[in-house]
Amino acid sequence: MNVQEEITRLKEEKNAIILVHNYQRPKVQDVADYLGDSLGLSRKASNTNADMIVFCGVTFMAETAKILSPDKTVLLPRKEAGCPMADMVTSSDVIALKEKYPDAKVVSYVNTNADVKAVTDVCCTSSNAVEVVRNIEADRVIFVPDRNLASYVGRFVDKEIIPWDGYCYVHERITKDEVLKAKEKYPDALLLVHPECNPPVIDIADEVLSTQGMVDFVGESDNKRFLIGTEEGILYRLKKENPDKEFYPAGTPKICQNMKRTTLDDVYLALKDEQYPIEIPDEIISSAKRALEAMLQYV
Ligand code: 13P
Ligand code: SF4
Repeated sequence: MNVQEEITRLKEEKNAIILVHNYQRPKVQDVADYLGDSLGLSRKASNTNADMIVFCGVTFMAETAKILSPDKTVLLPRKEAGCPMADMVTSSDVIALKEKYPDAKVVSYVNTNADVKAVTDVCCTSSNAVEVVRNIEADRVIFVPDRNLASYVGRFVDKEIIPWDGYCYVHERITKDEVLKAKEKYPDALLLVHPECNPPVIDIADEVLSTQGMVDFVGESDNKRFLIGTEEGILYRLKKENPDKEFYPAGTPKICQNMKRTTLDDVYLALKDEQYPIEIPDEIISSAKRALEAMLQYV
């Protein structure tokens, strides 16, 4: 059996679409109908005509697709592909913060579980966090769960930000020392980093971008070499789309184990056996949808 061919056949039979995040394994990226960052994937999930979405990413991304398109079947090929950062804050934590700061609005990074989105005013992604916080009607903003993204946003807005102390274990491992060494080795390379990185790494970056922001920036840049400060999966796409340019990880390659759980066989099995469907209670869907749609209106 040819797995790629079976995937194509099943997709047509079931009117399914395969959405893939930029950190996924190369073979999974290659079967994507749409490959992108959290914002692009959310938009795609909200305006597809497909009946079924196979989401190759982590739980919060598939949940976001389900919240935006509740009538569709949304499948996560590996049930255990979670995001540890999303699990660092609970809805009770957010409710307690709201009680402590009643005048504040809540902005949640999409890297949160559905019940946290349900107690949120507006969601954001790494590509629109600054715009969302700047435009929300409040001088005080509770920002969960990523402390690094919160501090990055704080550089651009004149508002009080109350951060949660969450972080991404993958980006947290990128150190300023290793990035400086990489810059010494490739002095003509531009350093692109993700806003989940630590502030000392952000300070020395040429550009701070979402994963799709990196893809777009590289495509338009005249520079030849790039140091990439994010999960290593994106290097496959960057190299494939820009064969005339060179890409190096900014330090040792950093891997998100959760993003790498999904294999091509899992994608095939997901389509064949319709596994594993995302299920979210209706009342959570309706509140979380409001926060996600508010984000999609901002930018
Ligand atoms: P992007 O939305 O920039 O792709 O980031 C998602 C993510 O999980 C980063 O760790
Ligand atoms: Fe979560 Fe970090 Fe993995 Fe992104 S890279 S899915 S934030 S653990």
